[in-house]
Amino acid sequence: MMGAAGPWSRAARLALLVSLPAAAALAALAALDRFGFGEAALAWLACVVGMVVMLRPLASAIEGLRIHIDGLGEDAPEPPPLVSGGLAGDIAAATGKLDRAWRRRGQALDAATAARETILDTLPDPLILLGRDRIVTRANRAAKALLGRDLAGQTLISCLRVPEVLDACDAVLAGTRSADIEFGFSGPDPRHFSGHVQILDAPHFDGGVLVIALHDITEVKRIDNMRADFVANASHEIRTPLTTLVGMIETLRGPARDDAQAREQFLGLMGEHAHRITGLVNDLLSLSRIEMLEHTPPTGTVALGPLLARTREDLAWKADRRRVTIELALDADLPPVIGDESELGQLFQNLLDNAIKYGDEDSSIDVSAAVSDDSGSVAVAVRDHGPGIDSRHLGRLTERFYRIDKARSREMGGTGLGLAIVKHVVNRHRGTLAIESTPGEGSRFTVDLPVAEERSR
Ligand SMILES: Nc1ncnc2c1ncn2[C@@H]1O[C@H](COP(=O)(O)OP(=O)(O)OP(=O)(O)O)[C@@H](O)[C@H]1O
Ligand SMILES: [Mg+2]
Repeated sequence: MMGAAGPWSRAARLALLVSLPAAAALAALAALDRFGFGEAALAWLACVVGMVVMLRPLASAIEGLRIHIDGLGEDAPEPPPLVSGGLAGDIAAATGKLDRAWRRRGQALDAATAARETILDTLPDPLILLGRDRIVTRANRAAKALLGRDLAGQTLISCLRVPEVLDACDAVLAGTRSADIEFGFSGPDPRHFSGHVQILDAPHFDGGVLVIALHDITEVKRIDNMRADFVANASHEIRTPLTTLVGMIETLRGPARDDAQAREQFLGLMGEHAHRITGLVNDLLSLSRIEMLEHTPPTGTVALGPLLARTREDLAWKADRRRVTIELALDADLPPVIGDESELGQLFQNLLDNAIKYGDEDSSIDVSAAVSDDSGSVAVAVRDHGPGIDSRHLGRLTERFYRIDKARSREMGGTGLGLAIVKHVVNRHRGTLAIESTPGEGSRFTVDLPVAEERSR
């Protein structure tokens, strides 16, 4: 085995090889009787020994160089020791430098790959890389969360069976450079995605040639639908009384022109409708103002006792019409809460207004305010004794224009914005709203508001 040969035996073999022409010349001279064969053999031996001694350092350098070069390709943390001195040393130094440069480049490549993986995993949007055979070669964390952990190695159709995506991939693999898609998943948690399919200029080292980038637009769609619903609802709410107003004006100008009694009656109704439109526009303006401020919490402090007493007084005329009494039960030393007085006034006015409107006639409404167990907040509860609310409506009551019984609410002058305003005021105040109801017994709306700092400490 070459590798096991020591420098001496390598030098001897080299000397034997190199001395072959000399051996041939000495043999020829001996054959011509210029020398005796014994003298020729002695001379050749002396030549070989001399050469072995001279070639031995060279053989040893070659051996060292071989060991050094053998070690360069291996995964050792450090390059192998260098051979020093002479030509072999120079070659070893050059290969060592090459090896170090190569290792540095390898480390830089590893770091770049790790950084790229981290960046892809940090992206909130799913990203999938496919080979020409439509097999997933890699997927980022968002894609795994959406489609399953073991995506790599699966066919596209088995993990994303969406005709729009499959068709777009076919088109891009057939020559279209890129394609945009939009699709939805139905089911218990329906989701909508927009996406982009793009061919790579050069294949990725793992064989990937096609990138599918998806973006979840479920929320955007929901907001779009909400906006469309909102515009439709608001227009409808305004159009109904406006149409009635226009009809009445025409009647007053035409058939009822000289009818004083009809004029009085119509003017009264027209006032109500105009009032209704004004109320609706005011509610819409309040809602949009509170929504705009929702991310900026209020900085003032509000004493709830006087505010609740004032709200009761403001609504006394309405309560009297239904023979409803409003009972206040407030903790004796109620701390002030963080808040905007006019918004909190509007909040309690809406809750009390509902309790009066939807509670039973000749009943009572109980308003209580108490500090929570950890003294961090004040809970204000408005409880009515009305028909209550079926549990299937509870989650939707704070949606704009949501009314359980549209006709009844409209007849009461309601537009379905009151609780939406309550929810936004509560959100802005970093509080909570809880709605409990037992059909046949009544409902309780509880608002929890953070206590102002100086009193809570
Ligand atoms: N205390 C309650 N008891 C029974 N149903 C209620 C009560 N409060 C609210 N609701 C129901 O919730 C719906 C939404 O209430 P919300 O206050 O948002 O609108 P509204 O009272 O109809 O109109 P608005 O408050 O704009 O005048 C009401 O239409 C009613 O059906
Ligand atoms: Mg209301």
